[in-house]
Amino acid sequence: MKYKIMALCLGVMLALGLAGCGGKEEERTAGQKQEQASGDGQAKNQAVAGQEAGAEQDQAVPSAEPEQDKTDDTENGRILIAYFSVPEDVDTSGVDAISSASIVVQEGEVYGNTEYVAKIVQETIGGDLFRIKTTEDYPLDHDLLVDQAADEQNAELRPELKSHIEDMGQYDTVILGFPNWWADLPMPVYTFLEEYDLGGKTIIPFVTHGGSGFSGTEDTIAGLQPDAAVSDNTLSLSRGDVADSEEEVRQWAESLR
Ligand SMILES: Cc1cc2nc3c(=O)[nH]c(=O)nc-3n(C[C@H](O)[C@H](O)[C@H](O)COP(=O)(O)O)c2cc1C
Repeated sequence: MKYKIMALCLGVMLALGLAGCGGKEEERTAGQKQEQASGDGQAKNQAVAGQEAGAEQDQAVPSAEPEQDKTDDTENGRILIAYFSVPEDVDTSGVDAISSASIVVQEGEVYGNTEYVAKIVQETIGGDLFRIKTTEDYPLDHDLLVDQAADEQNAELRPELKSHIEDMGQYDTVILGFPNWWADLPMPVYTFLEEYDLGGKTIIPFVTHGGSGFSGTEDTIAGLQPDAAVSDNTLSLSRGDVADSEEEVRQWAESLR
């Protein structure tokens, strides 16, 4: 058990670039500095990038009313692709794709890592794309974001959601994407999973992360939805690989048909 805790601690430290495994406040401060340092080369025009990323966060309005339905040709019935993603405030000027941070830039569009993967899955096998959005926007500044996420996790907060699915009953499969936050689900994903009864459905998780993978969140999902089947055909992508992951994501999505 002792070794498990040490291993978990080490994983989170590696993922966040933390310098030590002491008090959480110290860990976060060190991690922020290192992550900030790694992003410094891209941080010349943060105000502009922040506006773009912020606009993206607002634009990606989840829809309970599917705009396109390409799910008829899959064997998994109707598919919902629900995802949570926070594209951070990173400089995007003059760059086609940024793979070390929490965003992907493609053809001038800024996507959060998880958002990008969700988009490719939907392009590949259809289904309805649903962004899990909170009533209060998250800060796009990395330092503020990691602090807020840690506070929410410590308080076991359930942030209020702005987006809701009107008729969850129409779906047979829920592909659920999220970033690893402090070796756990982001708290809004808890809110989402506690809002609906997914009993009888198949949940297919995918995660983007900084090195920790799922950190056991598949079991957390199964615990929150005991009457759903949580698939083990999952996808785990390191943030450094997301920008170049299109083919891998497409192949995985095809395997879900
Ligand atoms: C608040 C916060 C906490 C994080 N904690 C972890 C962690 O514990 N382990 C890990 O591997 N990555 C961690 N990361 C890195 C993210 O999982 C990774 O950057 C992810 O791709 C972000 O996805 P998004 O752009 O869709 O939000 C964390 C990032 C943030 C912002």
